[in-house]
Amino acid sequence: MKTPVRVAVTGAAGQIGYSLLFRIASGDMLGPDQPVILQLLEVPPAMDAVQGVMMEIDDCAFPLVAGLQASDKPEETFQDADYILLVGAKPRGPGMERKDLLEANAAIFSAQGQAMNAVASRDVRVLAVGNPANTNALIARHNAPDLDPRSFTAMTRLDHNRALAQLANRTGSHVTGIERLTVWGNHSATQYPDVTHAVVDGKAAGELVDQSWLEESFIPTVQQRGAAIIKARGQSSAASAASAAIDHMRDWTLGTSGDDWVSMAIPSDGSYGITEGLIYSFPVRCVDGRYEIVQGLEIDAFSRERMSATEQELIEERDAVKHLLP
Ligand code: NAI
Repeated sequence: MKTPVRVAVTGAAGQIGYSLLFRIASGDMLGPDQPVILQLLEVPPAMDAVQGVMMEIDDCAFPLVAGLQASDKPEETFQDADYILLVGAKPRGPGMERKDLLEANAAIFSAQGQAMNAVASRDVRVLAVGNPANTNALIARHNAPDLDPRSFTAMTRLDHNRALAQLANRTGSHVTGIERLTVWGNHSATQYPDVTHAVVDGKAAGELVDQSWLEESFIPTVQQRGAAIIKARGQSSAASAASAAIDHMRDWTLGTSGDDWVSMAIPSDGSYGITEGLIYSFPVRCVDGRYEIVQGLEIDAFSRERMSATEQELIEERDAVKHLLP
């Protein structure tokens, strides 16, 4: 058995937390030989609920759980953390404008950024799930100047997985037969799921689906999938979001398979002309615990227009919280 690693999860008593923690504890995220110490964060009114979740984790008698603790103080939760999953966020309340939501979350994510800057492992890997995920990751990153900027990522893996499922259904294939699909940009309705370079069972996706299906069905379905789940279930996607968070952290840590790639929102280094510093979703391959943007993909006019639209939205989000970015 390896030495235990510390995994911090915020919003631990929430819907996603209730699925995510048990998957981490059973080894789905870091492998069956990696013990974990779970360090949970919640707000004070949810501390009773988080105690209940901890009782259930105890009751699972997971062989890989080497420690379990909860706090309402980020400095305690992030102490020596090797992995931080930022799930807790303020939901949009009645009458709240997008700008109010950005500001409310900016306050949370700047305080959490400062806390991880002070106490987390210097090699920490951070994933923002709570919305607006990309901009929340940006805020945390700017408030943690002593940590590597590349440690800060946001989740577009759920969008990536949704796109895989839609394309598999349409082409009568299985998700495992699809490679090289990309989600570009923001985890929002402006995201651009792109099959230009995708291969389905060895065939170019473009030979199997037509442009009108892509424009009228595939792209809007993936972009609006979150809203469709809320309409059907009465609650937002939780188990699928947790599963995507597991996929994101596992691939980042243990590597992507073969020549395939995945979508991760990461600090832009200017690749593909995207404004440097934005937390933008790119196609990435992961090796030895590091991600690298897949370079050299040809971008046609259709793709460029959509990549720019989602970039523009991220610029606007960044500018709305500029006064909170040190
Ligand atoms: P939820 O409302 O069930 O749980 C959120 C939990 O976070 C609550 O228990 C709350 O007490 C806690 N929380 C709030 N502020 C906190 C803080 N400052 N520190 C620690 N904990 C805090 O929500 P759910 O369904 O678990 O979703 C969590 C977030 O994930 C939401 O922002 C949601 O929009 C987002 N999400 C993101 C997805 C993505 O693909 N990036 C997909 C699905 C959801």
